[in-house]
Amino acid sequence: MFPSSKKFLDITNNNSPDVAVILGSGLTNFFDDQDIIESVSYEELEDFPQPTVKGHAGKLVLGKINNLNVVCMYGRSHIYEGHNPQSLAAPIRVLKDIGSKLLIVTNAAGSLDENMPAGSLMAIKDHINWSGFNPLIGTNAESYGPRFHDMSDGYHKFYREQLIDIARKTNQKLYEGIYCMYSGPNFETPAEINALKVIGGNAVGMSTVPEVLVANHCSLPVIGISVITNLAAGMNKTKLSHQETLENASLAENNVLNLIKQFICEVQFDDSSRNN
Ligand code: HPA
Repeated sequence: MFPSSKKFLDITNNNSPDVAVILGSGLTNFFDDQDIIESVSYEELEDFPQPTVKGHAGKLVLGKINNLNVVCMYGRSHIYEGHNPQSLAAPIRVLKDIGSKLLIVTNAAGSLDENMPAGSLMAIKDHINWSGFNPLIGTNAESYGPRFHDMSDGYHKFYREQLIDIARKTNQKLYEGIYCMYSGPNFETPAEINALKVIGGNAVGMSTVPEVLVANHCSLPVIGISVITNLAAGMNKTKLSHQETLENASLAENNVLNLIKQFICEVQFDDSSRNN
């Protein structure tokens, strides 16, 4: 167990979360104040790399959604910030250590499809790791998982289908697609975007894949939602900017957070799953 896991459990009196959530760029308001049980800054959690990017607050918050305990990472670190890829494994393993049974990751992403414009939400069906990095390279952490772990259900179908059902029931349009991770920090070139379209991508971003790899390695089921903040490079005339990412993510914030909260209210856990 990581020191940060023990510290978090001490602070929360062993109040374990059922569900963990990671907020991507521009998403900042997960819990209502009265639902917060404890909030711990990443600065107090020695295993957490410190985010340096605007729009990533850097705190781990335990709260209540309906009857469930939910732990939420307000902000994440990225490889392009200069963090060692391996260091991105620790927060996910902490979420596992403290008892999370399911992880919901969110991100801001560019769309590779004109018919999926800014403001859309996309359930991630699978990913293409085009970043050139992998947080699991190095000595295998045997206590968390095996050297060669399976990724054939990386975005857990059992939970993903529940998310899609809830979106349908609540009239929230939800696309489904393949997320491609690019390292950043620059946005992609139009030629790179054309290449990603050819290899089967639907959205592109600079995060999420490291976390999903680590979560699958330690048998923590994951689902992911991309908030589409722009058409990808070369697909319209305007230049891309982080400001646009933050503004458009915040315009879609209510939709994505309501969907996640509704999902948490209704989720059926997969007790028989290989992933429990
Ligand atoms: N590319 C990469 N990452 C992103 C984008 C994009 O177009 N939009 C938001 N995050």
